Amino acid sequence: MTIRTICKQDKIYLTIIGELEDSKQIGELVESLSISETKNFNVTFLGANIIPKSIIEKLFILQEDKKCNIFVLKRYLFSYLQYLGIKCNYITKKLTFKKPKDNISYEKEKLSQEEIYIFLKDINNIYGYDYTEYQMDSIMRRINIAMIRERIYDFNIFREQVLHNQKIFHDLFLDLSINTTEFFRDHEVFNMIKNKILPYLNSYNHIKIWCAGCSIGKEVYSLAIILKEADMLSKTQIYATDINPYVIEEAKNGLYSITTLDKDIDNYRNAQGEKSFIQYFDINKNYIKVKEELKKNILFFQHSLLSNGTLNEFNLILCRNVFIYFNDALQEKVLKNFYNSLDNNGFLVLGKSEGIQKNNGHNYFYKYNEQNKIYRKINK
Ligand SMILES: C[S@@+](CC[C@H](N)C(=O)[O-])C[C@H]1O[C@@H](n2cnc3c(N)ncnc32)[C@H](O)[C@@H]1O
Repeated sequence: MTIRTICKQDKIYLTIIGELEDSKQIGELVESLSISETKNFNVTFLGANIIPKSIIEKLFILQEDKKCNIFVLKRYLFSYLQYLGIKCNYITKKLTFKKPKDNISYEKEKLSQEEIYIFLKDINNIYGYDYTEYQMDSIMRRINIAMIRERIYDFNIFREQVLHNQKIFHDLFLDLSINTTEFFRDHEVFNMIKNKILPYLNSYNHIKIWCAGCSIGKEVYSLAIILKEADMLSKTQIYATDINPYVIEEAKNGLYSITTLDKDIDNYRNAQGEKSFIQYFDINKNYIKVKEELKKNILFFQHSLLSNGTLNEFNLILCRNVFIYFNDALQEKVLKNFYNSLDNNGFLVLGKSEGIQKNNGHNYFYKYNEQNKIYRKINK
């Protein structure tokens, strides 16, 4: 990362090029933002996809004092900062713009499953991300969205762009990763974990939990809250993983928009939360920040469920609302991997609209509570 600093009259212009990689660089940037009490800042993030918590907080304070304009080049970062209530300006990219031919409208050009499959194979060969066994309909919808956004109306041109331009692939990668989540999503599932699974796990001296496809972390922090209230957090190690490295960074930051706080509190109450939801957060004007006590036992890292090899001997695995994007064959592969990653009698929790019926899951798991999609490993 490089920071370019220019001082002009009453303004300091900071341009940050590249990713913020280590705590030293982060410290340097926070220091640069603190150098002047009197001057205003113009901060431009040219390369970064992620901004760590300490910088976000500094930017927020500067903005509150009306001392800072922020510009970002990256769409993903722009959305994240906006979501947290940090106003920023999006520097739009200059795109290769191909006008649709008069007689071929975009809608008329239907993509065939075969050409998409070949395209996905090429993506895997070049970039190492394998989407060939994701649900084809969903992939096709996402590709359509990406083409409209890039204003490329011809699939072959789009294909070439993605395969030869890492930036365009990168945006498509983000389109393919759907990160919808909430605190205590499907509160009945958390009731079951609290009332049935935790009392069982409490007999262990040390507990290991894997939250796979954790997105921006709300699910794993919900879990940490119920563990804390059961006085079990300190003896638990939670692995929280996702294929998307940016959501992992957001999860580590643990900053969330305050706009959903009423819903979060409702969900927490419905999940039989015993205390006050906000006691686990520092509340800011626009966002809430997860307290360190919840983070201590969570290890966040990027990991794809398609990678070979098991992770560890877990007592409980949560993988909710991820299977819906996979075809049945891929679901079976991942179930097999979960089977190998669980200890005897281990629990698996899937999403509300997922299950083990169509993917041969009954070879590895039996139903524990079908309504909430909770299964247990078959001991062979
Ligand atoms: C809809 S979110 C679900 C978040 C959370 N589990 C919940 O239920 O609220 C799906 C997540 O799965 C992740 N995902 C998709 N494919 C994956 C893969 N192959 N390996 C790991 N995570 C994946 C996405 O990046 C996304 O964050």
